[in-house]
Amino acid sequence: MTTTQLFDQLWNEYTERTPSAQKVKNLFEAQGNSTIANDHVAFRTFDDPRVNIDVLATTFINNGYEYVADYHFEKKKLYAKHFAHKTDKNAPLVFISQLLTSELSVELQSIVKNTLDTVDFTTVSAEELVFKGRLWDTPNFELYNTLLNESEYAAWLYVNGFCANHFTVDINKLDTFNTIIEVNNFLKENGHELNASGGEIKGTPEDFLEQSSILADKFIVNFEEGAKEITSCYYEFAFRHPMANGELFKGFIASSADKIFESTDMVLQ
Ligand code: NI
Repeated sequence: MTTTQLFDQLWNEYTERTPSAQKVKNLFEAQGNSTIANDHVAFRTFDDPRVNIDVLATTFINNGYEYVADYHFEKKKLYAKHFAHKTDKNAPLVFISQLLTSELSVELQSIVKNTLDTVDFTTVSAEELVFKGRLWDTPNFELYNTLLNESEYAAWLYVNGFCANHFTVDINKLDTFNTIIEVNNFLKENGHELNASGGEIKGTPEDFLEQSSILADKFIVNFEEGAKEITSCYYEFAFRHPMANGELFKGFIASSADKIFESTDMVLQ
């Protein structure tokens, strides 16, 4: 599989559960942007050794990616790593976070472990994991709410499973927009609601990275107790500034990512 095929497959799966992303991409194209490049694609997982960051990263490592840096989110009990393609500078960055279950309640730990224990991991290769979505059976709404009370991230992952949590438009490569404010105004004019947690724009030119996102879509999830509407994934927008050496900053800002995680928050919807 080429890198392009890999991200095309992820995009197809992602836009099925996130129709807003395809709509926004179409709007950018209709505005005269010939290519909509991705700055990064992000994934979520648990720290369990069967599915942790390094397992989820397998398909990217096998496609020419390497580890670059890591990030700590102490309040949300998350840890993340970012990966970049070794030679293809146009390939999106990959950002994978994991929930540090050992820092959360024994109850949450047992729900996560019991859920993963129902999966036969001998039939799922590490390479495929990122495409698999939810590998376990029908979720239970009571368990979902127990997770939600403690970690929105855990609850989201319990329902959505392994998939691209967000794709991110590279604003620097858009032809018709020069700032993130222009992009945000365009999104709002077209009826898309932005994640305003910590302000609509996360980060400043001094951080060399400004980011915004629209709120996650919702989809109908069939729980054991019946169908409920739950958040799926969201579309993000990133504008990078040059550093003193003239090169665009290519890392991430933990305090900004911290707020962006909240784009799937059920309360914000
Ligand atoms: Ni992101």
